[in-house]
Amino acid sequence: MKPLKSLTLLLLCFSLFSYGQFKLSPLPYNYNALEPYIDSTTMHFHHDFHHAAYVNNLNKALEKYPELYKKDLEQLIKNISKLPIDIQTAVRNNGGGVYNHNFYFNIMAPSGTQPMSTSLEKQLKENFGSVDAFKAQFERAALGRFGSGWVWLIKDQSGKLRIISTPNQDNPLMENSEVKGIPVLTLDVWEHAYYLKYQYKRAAYAKAFWNIVNWNEVERLIAKPPVVEIELYY
Ligand SMILES: [Fe+2]
Repeated sequence: MKPLKSLTLLLLCFSLFSYGQFKLSPLPYNYNALEPYIDSTTMHFHHDFHHAAYVNNLNKALEKYPELYKKDLEQLIKNISKLPIDIQTAVRNNGGGVYNHNFYFNIMAPSGTQPMSTSLEKQLKENFGSVDAFKAQFERAALGRFGSGWVWLIKDQSGKLRIISTPNQDNPLMENSEVKGIPVLTLDVWEHAYYLKYQYKRAAYAKAFWNIVNWNEVERLIAKPPVVEIELYY
């Protein structure tokens, strides 16, 4: 077995059987499934090291408050101000990291397997003028994010689709988000997501992303009724 594969297997075993409720979700496709748009090596490092680190660090942050292992991750990150003060930053960074990466890996699919339906095309036209205008605005948001962060397509409280970006591991579900809404699509614009293949060319990575979006999942998330908010008590 190649050294990278052995290490990957070891890390996955550690994550699956380590303490705590939060586990590293496996990728919903093979590491090379998004080639040539996202390469297999990037996927290995991104999922098995970066994503795994967020899972492990979230679990470590919750060690003092093990009852929080039982909470739903979405509820945790929506209610950070209600958590014990000493773990708020760690949950924001690492809980956000786990949620965002799960979302990102699940919103992609091998090229050509999950095309955009005419119904989704119509919704994007209604909200942005055209699909091309939507993509251009999303790409501008990806380039405009200074440093590390995420670009999102969200459904806001009025049901309108909007494009926003968040810094670091923040996301539109968090209390501190300037614009809140239900995420329906995201692009990771941390350098670790693209640097091995694209180097400094974030624009090329953002453009390539359109080939591997799971549009069926985007449409499903847009159609999904809003989740009833649950107050978090610990
Ligand atoms: Fe990432």
